[in-house]
Amino acid sequence: MNKPTHANPIQTAVFPVAGLGTRFLPATKAAPKEMLPVVDKPLIQYAVEEAYAAGIRHMVFVTGRNKRAIEDHFDTAYELENELQANGKDALLALVRSVQPEDMLCSYVRQPRALGLGHAVLCAEHLTGGQPFAVLLADDLMLGPSGGRPVLAQMVDIFREHARSVLAVQEVPQDQVRRYGIVAGDDLGQGLLRVRHMVEKPSPENAPSRMAVAGRYILTPGIFDCIRNQTRGAQGEIQLTDGIVGLLASESVQAYQYQGKRFDCGSKLGFLEATVELALDHPEVGEDFRRYLKQLSS
Ligand code: UTP
Repeated sequence: MNKPTHANPIQTAVFPVAGLGTRFLPATKAAPKEMLPVVDKPLIQYAVEEAYAAGIRHMVFVTGRNKRAIEDHFDTAYELENELQANGKDALLALVRSVQPEDMLCSYVRQPRALGLGHAVLCAEHLTGGQPFAVLLADDLMLGPSGGRPVLAQMVDIFREHARSVLAVQEVPQDQVRRYGIVAGDDLGQGLLRVRHMVEKPSPENAPSRMAVAGRYILTPGIFDCIRNQTRGAQGEIQLTDGIVGLLASESVQAYQYQGKRFDCGSKLGFLEATVELALDHPEVGEDFRRYLKQLSS
């Protein structure tokens, strides 16, 4: 993992992981969706590594029932480490220890009921120190451009320059807008948009654009009062989108068309796509897997 080279304007990342994961039942009946592995790493670890690579060292997990495995994953595994050490399996030992670098601090807070993403973010308020913070949804697995900066690091760069909330967006086909928060606004050039409107899961006829919010946000602390003061929105949930709409009344918010690729690992198809693409790139199994796929399709 990279070390940050200079003081980072964003110190804390919030990972809301208290959702029910109903699209992945029965796998998520007793196990967290965020622990589903893509090749050999759980989804949540990809997101934590992305935050770490963006220079963030305080990781806040908003958890719920059945999410203990996430806490264990980012804790020391004494028995396993002792066993690996005793058997001289140094490479595996280093791999296990690399999950929690020494300079990374993890905090946990419970969301007592899955009342919505906005509510989950509000549960982390006291752990953000009144400072701007990042939100990462681990079921969106984001890959930066090959050899380029990871997506959240790109967003931290934008925040460093403009000191305003930043939402990661991508253009989606018209028939998919109902699955996302959709933004519209003024084009500022270089992939930036000043957000004027935002709506959660609109029908294609009512969508103000095809610019969909992906699961990466940098938010200013003003968001908390907005969430606190809002009523339940789409699907009866306390939506983060509605909080951001509230924020627009007093602050300017930017949307950023990130460079890279997103896999919707909250859906079965997106999860399979991520698995295939990352497996093909994997140093250990990539070549054999490619050969296997060729043989399947011939
Ligand atoms: P999703 O709606 O994609 O996740 O929420 P879900 O509810 O877990 O999954 P499905 O739709 O039932 O299959 C986006 C993110 O917000 C978190 C989820 O854990 C996920 O990372 N979330 C959602 C919360 O932490 N709390 C909530 O009340 C709702």
